[in-house]
Amino acid sequence: MTIGIMTAMPEEAALLARELARETEHVHGGRTYCTGTLAGRRVVLVFSRMGKVAAAATAQHLIDVHRVGSILFSGVAGALRPDLRIGDIVVGDRLWQHDMDASPLFAPLEIPLLKTSSFATEDAIRNSLFSSAEAFLREGFDTEVASAAVAELGIRDPKVIRGDIASGDRFVSTHAERDALRAKVPSAVCVEMEGGAVAQVCFEHGIPLGVVRVISDGAGDGAHVDFGKFVRDAASRYGLGIIRRFLERGTPARDGASRAS
Ligand code: ADE
Repeated sequence: MTIGIMTAMPEEAALLARELARETEHVHGGRTYCTGTLAGRRVVLVFSRMGKVAAAATAQHLIDVHRVGSILFSGVAGALRPDLRIGDIVVGDRLWQHDMDASPLFAPLEIPLLKTSSFATEDAIRNSLFSSAEAFLREGFDTEVASAAVAELGIRDPKVIRGDIASGDRFVSTHAERDALRAKVPSAVCVEMEGGAVAQVCFEHGIPLGVVRVISDGAGDGAHVDFGKFVRDAASRYGLGIIRRFLERGTPARDGASRAS
């Protein structure tokens, strides 16, 4: 089974691409899909770009053309839960689209015609991502993330949690917007711009999904300042460290099983 690996930022894809034993490279819709093996597993690696449309289009292509059996999304997120700090890791439980509002036709947040407002990630992928993230923090963090970056970014005792994720086409960078989002999607622990869209596409096609996000900022005033520095200096290391361990574990459910159509 081929695993689709998506990232929203080029820096995150670049390090993974360096580890990939590359077989083919194919450009579609301005995105480059690289196939090959990573940690002994068949993967297609792609930088999806930011935002729900970009992510959905990329996921659809992975499913239709590359026939992936599961999708893994790795990236960064802004913290919504007050105890989350820069450098902490969130393994996604359910994905919400916080900017979906077709009221009064449907309830706010409800995805029209799907009778739900959120999509679950796959249990086995989620569990494996969680233990891979824990292993990365335990064994890899000190050596794989440059200590200068850790000090400069103020990363201290990073932890991994499971939680819901809110996605929308907004980079949240004011306290007011962050607080409004907390009230709107109370179960969401962090915010990003792609996961909910990929989750909808995966749901519609019966494709198991896992989402892992590293907290890059507090989604409040000045979030964009933290964000650039974090993506450049730390996020790509986290992504590689977690995904490599995930692939080595070989856990994803339905390995070798046929997929829904
Ligand atoms: N991804 C990382 N930080 C974010 C933020 N503050 N808002 C939306 N997406 C993000």
